[in-house]
Amino acid sequence: MDGDMQGKVCLVTGGARGMGRVTALALAARGARVIIVDWEGEEGTRTRDLINSRASRPLAEFAWCDLSSLADVRRLAADIGARYPSLQVLVNNAGITDPVRRLSPDGWEMHLATCHLGHFLLTQLLLPQLRAGAPARIVCIASEAHRVGPGLDFDDLNNEKIWKGAAFSNGAAFAAYHRAKLCNLYFTFELAGRLRGSGITVNAVSPGYFVNTSIYRNLRGVFRWGAVPVFALGSLLGLNTPERGARTHIHVAASPAVEGVTGEYFASCRVAQASPVARDPVIRRRLWDWTAGVTGIGA
Ligand SMILES: NC(=O)c1ccc[n+]([C@@H]2O[C@H](COP(=O)([O-])OP(=O)(O)OC[C@H]3O[C@@H](n4cnc5c(N)ncnc54)[C@H](OP(=O)(O)O)[C@@H]3O)[C@@H](O)[C@H]2O)c1
Repeated sequence: MDGDMQGKVCLVTGGARGMGRVTALALAARGARVIIVDWEGEEGTRTRDLINSRASRPLAEFAWCDLSSLADVRRLAADIGARYPSLQVLVNNAGITDPVRRLSPDGWEMHLATCHLGHFLLTQLLLPQLRAGAPARIVCIASEAHRVGPGLDFDDLNNEKIWKGAAFSNGAAFAAYHRAKLCNLYFTFELAGRLRGSGITVNAVSPGYFVNTSIYRNLRGVFRWGAVPVFALGSLLGLNTPERGARTHIHVAASPAVEGVTGEYFASCRVAQASPVARDPVIRRRLWDWTAGVTGIGA
């Protein structure tokens, strides 16, 4: 097992289930103290208890947070900041796919709010702890879905037009997800540049295709039933388990081979090429400025 994490503090968002859960278990198995952040209280406490039952001393805690709520993220960051003077790993993993257009408590569409705004704000607020914990790593979970879709529309960042007024739409969910994952990459590459030389690295991860987690459970119709054989075959061959999907999360968070590497996109535990659109420096700065404004962080 590479990457001794004894004495390190790691925070994993969406750590209650799926690949976040696998990542939390793996980091704790390497000796890290793990903060599991999620809005799934039952699964979150179960994951915490599983980790603690395997360790000789309590290594995990569960912190409830709705990452789509900016107030909740601020409350979480204040609580973590008060209790942990330093943090070595932040894994921005929580994500959703939802064909129903839902709004966060602040009125932002949920893909944007959860995948991008909440993680942007959480990361900014935890920078003092990450600086104190340096060398530290920020790992942002993106997706190959960043390649497939309409790209960002600065006149429709809140994803109103793509639903076209429909009550639900799988196509809109894919488009909103694609945009949210592009945002994850713009944020990763911009932040990596801003933090160069600080001792904090920032990288993005693609876990692979159709990893068999509950993230697709809200899809309907042909997308839902079409996914069943894909998942069944993948599981049979061991190709799309959350354990396999989370390998790159764990590699980028913990492996000594990744020490000092920053501003990269990883897939299958190797540096991969993100789409040229995701590397556009003008768009990523524009998105940064807009996000800093709406999250109240300032330039
Ligand atoms: N599965 C794939 O094929 C795949 C492929 C590429 C990238 N990814 C990315 O990998 C990451 C992990 O996905 P996964 O497949 O492991 O998903 P998952 O099993 O659904 O786990 C995600 C966790 O995040 C939680 N979450 C969602 N919204 C939240 C919010 N607003 N506040 C707090 N917690 C929230 C979820 O709770 P609920 O379940 O209650 O929503 C769930 O516990 C995501 O960023 C996803 O986009 C997944």
